Amino acid sequence: MGKITHTTQMSFYKSIVRPFLFLFPAERVRNFALAALRIAGSSRFGEWCLSHIYGYRHPSLEKEVFGVRFRNPIGAAAGLDRDARLYRQLGALGFGFVEIGTITPKEQPGGIRPRMFRIPRLQAVLHRMGHPNCGIEKAIDHLRRRAHGKRVVVGANIAPNSHFARENATKEYLRTFRPLYQYVEYFTINVSAIIGSPESYTPQDKELVEEILEAMFDFRRGQNDYRPILLKLSPDWDNKQIDDMVSILVDTPLDGLVVSDCTRQWNNVASERNKGRMAGCNMGGAPLIDRTEEMVRYVCSRMDYSYPVIATGGVMSAADAQRLLDAGASLVQCYSAMVYEGPAFPGRTCRALAQNK
Ligand SMILES: Cc1cc2nc3c(=O)[nH]c(=O)nc-3n(C[C@H](O)[C@H](O)[C@H](O)COP(=O)(O)O)c2cc1C
Repeated sequence: MGKITHTTQMSFYKSIVRPFLFLFPAERVRNFALAALRIAGSSRFGEWCLSHIYGYRHPSLEKEVFGVRFRNPIGAAAGLDRDARLYRQLGALGFGFVEIGTITPKEQPGGIRPRMFRIPRLQAVLHRMGHPNCGIEKAIDHLRRRAHGKRVVVGANIAPNSHFARENATKEYLRTFRPLYQYVEYFTINVSAIIGSPESYTPQDKELVEEILEAMFDFRRGQNDYRPILLKLSPDWDNKQIDDMVSILVDTPLDGLVVSDCTRQWNNVASERNKGRMAGCNMGGAPLIDRTEEMVRYVCSRMDYSYPVIATGGVMSAADAQRLLDAGASLVQCYSAMVYEGPAFPGRTCRALAQNK
């Protein structure tokens, strides 16, 4: 397989659209861009136009991972389609799969604005969103409209509402997992509310994760259809925490890992002004790629490359995606690349991956 070189293409988006959009606050631009995408792809014809302009399909990109058929390995990371309203349109742009959510049992507004920022110098996106989403009932309403053929794979990222009682954690996760079960192709369990930094980590945290997963496995055993379940890891965890999650993967019917997420450790790369404005934020984007590759390699070697990994964090080009696939990932997801590279990113990445085969 050839090596994809990292090119910085000057597209219409980067030279004209992006400088204009970056005049406005990050979350406002996000909402505007996603509303425009939703409207543009709301009809069958609109969806066809989007896929004709942006999408790219090639049989060499198709693959089966944890028993699910993906038309390509590039996915939309959690947070982009948090209310399950855009998966068709994101699929039309060229994504092979969309992880909706994070969905919580009840609707919640998330953190106080401003809560999303860009640092263009670093190609980074920072946020303290706090999982704003429409709640499970509305999300299912949106997924029910998933008529005419499931063209894009949809996974669900789930978590409890903020301020949940720890002793109710299992119940909280099940409140989303059970009703969503028949509507999505896989689940990602977001345990950021349970497992924090290495300093606060205790063996009880691991036990709680096992208890939550066991309840999900129990439910799954009673169903006709099998839905793979994955755990999302944090780039800020130490090897002990990561090893514990890998041992859960190896010892239980867990199907894979999502490696990894935004980081809280960005103080060394940000300016003093940004540190104040963006306090409490998590960072996604280009600075994450080295840590993501390191974690993917570590996790894959610990479990002998025998379970699937979805890599996320710092994928800003086809070369980055290839790097993570070469490191052992089966699939790759991105969020920040949509901010910096625009809507052509998934199709362009797929084309470059196919040409590299
Ligand atoms: C604004 C924003 C919101 C996000 N929301 C969620 C979320 O709700 N749930 C989640 O698991 N990850 C969320 N993420 C993390 C992404 O899914 C992804 O793992 C992370 O951004 C790293 O990928 P990137 O470098 O391509 O941005 C969010 C990221 C950003 C930037």
